[in-house]
Amino acid sequence: MMGENFPPLLELQNVSKIFTLKPFFGPEKRVEALRNVSLTLQAGRALAIVGESGSGKSTVGRAVARLFRPTSGRILFAGRDIAGLTTHADQMSYLRMVQMVFQDPFAALNPAHKIRHHLVRPLILHRGLKGDALEEATRQTLVDVELDPDVTLDKYPHELSGGQRQRVNLARALAVDSRLIVADEPTSMLDVSIRRSVLDLMRRLKLERGISFLYITHDIATAHYIAEETAVMFAGQIVEYGPSASVIRNPQHPYTQLLLSAVPDPAVRITGGRGEQGQPFSMHAETVRNSSRRPVGQPAEVASGHFVYHHLDMSPPMGDIAQHA
Ligand SMILES: Nc1ncnc2c1ncn2[C@@H]1O[C@H](COP(=O)(O)OP(=O)(O)OP(=O)(O)O)[C@@H](O)[C@H]1O
Ligand SMILES: [Mg+2]
Repeated sequence: MMGENFPPLLELQNVSKIFTLKPFFGPEKRVEALRNVSLTLQAGRALAIVGESGSGKSTVGRAVARLFRPTSGRILFAGRDIAGLTTHADQMSYLRMVQMVFQDPFAALNPAHKIRHHLVRPLILHRGLKGDALEEATRQTLVDVELDPDVTLDKYPHELSGGQRQRVNLARALAVDSRLIVADEPTSMLDVSIRRSVLDLMRRLKLERGISFLYITHDIATAHYIAEETAVMFAGQIVEYGPSASVIRNPQHPYTQLLLSAVPDPAVRITGGRGEQGQPFSMHAETVRNSSRRPVGQPAEVASGHFVYHHLDMSPPMGDIAQHA
């Protein structure tokens, strides 16, 4: 039951992350990987973060997985600031509740160990199981991800297909009873023909087990398949945010339109959306990208729960906006 008083499962409040690169020669370089990112994910739901390479998607995921601290801003899990998890017990419990699934299905699997080992360990460590109960739970986690335990348990990671390995990674999250899975491009290295079935599985885990997903992807067109809500990122900022169907059918930010049009040619004109003052626009792709880098201000609600961020600093003007109006 979602009551009024329940905090969201995950909340990012104005999270920024600056990476400082110190080359041997020359000046320090600062990369603003995240700029004032605010997001909310309710329990049992999925939020897609979409955007092109370098937009900051994985940095959001890694910050949530506590792989580093944000430069500023807060990340709350079930209402609690994760920066305040200082005891070992608190940190272990957080790492159990929040699991990452990576693009490379090999990344988290030890090639020297059979699948059984990968599942048994978390079941012992986190649930304290042993004997028949351990064997039963090990088999069940594989059944839950639609793998046959008789065939899978004694195989090594390299003996499975990419899709099967990704299922094992999801099984490990089930083994520790995760509440949130940060899935960073979980299907992009898989064969096109099996991507859908892995997405199907994640959707089922969400609906049947109430597991929440932060689903990171390049592919805005498939985000709605698992995620109720979609956030579009560019250059470290959220530029648009809302129910996935609304964002995809009625994209408001020029950059979202560019993503949906998926045109590689920077000279192609993007038309049909609404610009920042509500005027219809037509812009070259490169102009869209340049103007979308400017800092954003407060979001405006354009439909129920659907927000578009307007950019601050209107000068220099967006240059190439055709005045249809
Ligand atoms: N550890 C790091 N040190 C320095 N810069 C980093 C680091 N991690 C990320 N960045 C920079 O931060 C920006 C965002 O990177 P991030 O990996 O979050 O992008 P992404 O949206 O996940 O891209 P992709 O789709 O290619 O995975 C990029 O400019 C990247 O080079
Ligand atoms: Mg990434």
